[in-house]
Amino acid sequence: MNSHTVLYGVIGDPIRHSRSPVMLGRAFRESGVNGAYGAFHVAPERLGDAIRGIRALGFRGLNVTIPHKVEVMAYLDEIDESAGAIGAVNTIVNEDGRLIGYNTDGIGYVRSLKEEAEPDLTGKRVLVLGAGGAARGIVWALQREHTAEIWLANRTEQRAVGLAAALPSDGRLKVLPWHLLAEACGEADIVINTTSVGMAPHTEAMPADPAWLRPGAVASDLIYNPLKTAFLGAAEQRGCRIHGGLGMFVYQGAYAFEYWTGLPAPARAMREEVLASFAGTAAV
Ligand code: ATR
Repeated sequence: MNSHTVLYGVIGDPIRHSRSPVMLGRAFRESGVNGAYGAFHVAPERLGDAIRGIRALGFRGLNVTIPHKVEVMAYLDEIDESAGAIGAVNTIVNEDGRLIGYNTDGIGYVRSLKEEAEPDLTGKRVLVLGAGGAARGIVWALQREHTAEIWLANRTEQRAVGLAAALPSDGRLKVLPWHLLAEACGEADIVINTTSVGMAPHTEAMPADPAWLRPGAVASDLIYNPLKTAFLGAAEQRGCRIHGGLGMFVYQGAYAFEYWTGLPAPARAMREEVLASFAGTAAV
């Protein structure tokens, strides 16, 4: 660091578990960018102060994580279309004092899906399990692809109906009753788990019966702790192509890096760094 170092960081509560500093730190080193990225523990009542601090200190960029993704929007000067539609911000870019909020979670997920499992989403039927905050960004980003249909299924159907109503209706997005899950899994080209089912410590739980999946289809899980969920393990046994949740984390950070620096993100090195940070931790 020197007096030209450009500052970045992530705010959240809690924050000490975050892998963003090691991942973005590696991205800066790898790309020869003179940047530094810290993790800042910001309690909800200090959020406004934190954003004023970012402005005062001239941070170039900030990532925002739980529980601030929605509330932070009130402190920004501009909300990009992605964040507006999703209703949450995970990346802020400081353009000469104007703070602009973006959401890179959904597009990060789709880029990872295309790079790691299914390069061409054209004409694909996609089944999304879950209708929480994570599902919203993903469905929004999937709507930007040439998918044939997007089916949304949630244990609490009303929540899926609410999510579909909040997103642009283009005829391809359909809410599917939970009891039709088996049939839909068999017809889908890509099945995406956005629920928390299977996340540590309840790693044996599965969001859907893997026997319902069509061999050759893609099974995708947003969870990255564990890196390969029970659902993905069983789907692989069944002959599905599998796609884990680490890629979404890497590519949401890759987009943030690209928005801040204008440089292509060194995604492979970023992934490597996150994986190395997991080594030796009992949870993964
Ligand atoms: P996030 O913002 O991470 O998506 P969330 O908003 O709490 O988290 O959403 C969690 C999702 O997991 C929801 O779709 C939830 O379904 P409900 O809306 O019916 O609660 C889903 N989920 C959690 N536990 C589940 C379970 N045991 N079976 C099926 N779905 C479950």
